[in-house]
Amino acid sequence: MIAIFDSGYGGLTVLKPIIELLPQYDYLYLGDNGRAPYGNHSRENIIAFANQAVEYLFAHGSTLIIFACNTASAVALRKVQEKYLKGKEEKDRKILGVLLPVAEQAALSSKNGRVGVVGTKATINSKAYERGIAKLNPKIKVFSKACPLLVPFIEENWHNKPEAISILKKYLRPLKSCNIDTLILGCTHYPFMEKHFRRLMGRRIKLILSGPETAASLKEYLARHPEIEKKLSKKGIRHYLTSDDPLKFQKFAQSHLKMKIKMPERVELDLSSQ
Ligand code: DGL
Repeated sequence: MIAIFDSGYGGLTVLKPIIELLPQYDYLYLGDNGRAPYGNHSRENIIAFANQAVEYLFAHGSTLIIFACNTASAVALRKVQEKYLKGKEEKDRKILGVLLPVAEQAALSSKNGRVGVVGTKATINSKAYERGIAKLNPKIKVFSKACPLLVPFIEENWHNKPEAISILKKYLRPLKSCNIDTLILGCTHYPFMEKHFRRLMGRRIKLILSGPETAASLKEYLARHPEIEKKLSKKGIRHYLTSDDPLKFQKFAQSHLKMKIKMPERVELDLSSQ
């Protein structure tokens, strides 16, 4: 089974294009809504939350876990991989994130070598996108901006209101003067404001979204790794887990993504197991 892990609802913007591209597999989605947003948490907390999620998902039949959450990918992925993919376990299971496919696409897309990144405080402070892009092309200059107020606006369904757009405008102002030609929307929630990003940044600037890039990269990954691919169950099952209110989760999926999902199951991600 393929597991998609996010701090909450946002990872549905990654799950949706993955399911569209690879509908044959079984998917288990875990949203840690009870502790979201992750973006304002400390590095230690984010790593602890990600460890618990991974432990749960491996214990419940996952072979491949994808961190849809940019914050968890930026802050915790490497630590979690070190912890759970030791020795021979590495052959049987995998944990991937959204950061690498997104960084690769941004490095390919930029013609003038100037890339912008927006994300949560934790993602931007981690400088993970800067490191990822520098490894691919050290000549690219990365300009980043944390936009911590956008996630609450989106979760409240206020993201098309003038208040949210005026805050977005303020966040984007410094990036507009950096002469970037590519902007990474480095947060699962920002695609909900894609049209506003597009209008405010101008059509000349290419926006990179985690969902489609991760889906395309997963498809390639599975083609390159038949040993993992053959372990994945293929009955088209989709199962949803949340650490908060299942009904609220189901409503969010329906209203924000037009996804009709079956009622999620409520889970406890036990802190005492760490
Ligand atoms: N899922 C998070 C991310 O992509 C956004 C929400 C949060 O802060 O938890 O960074």
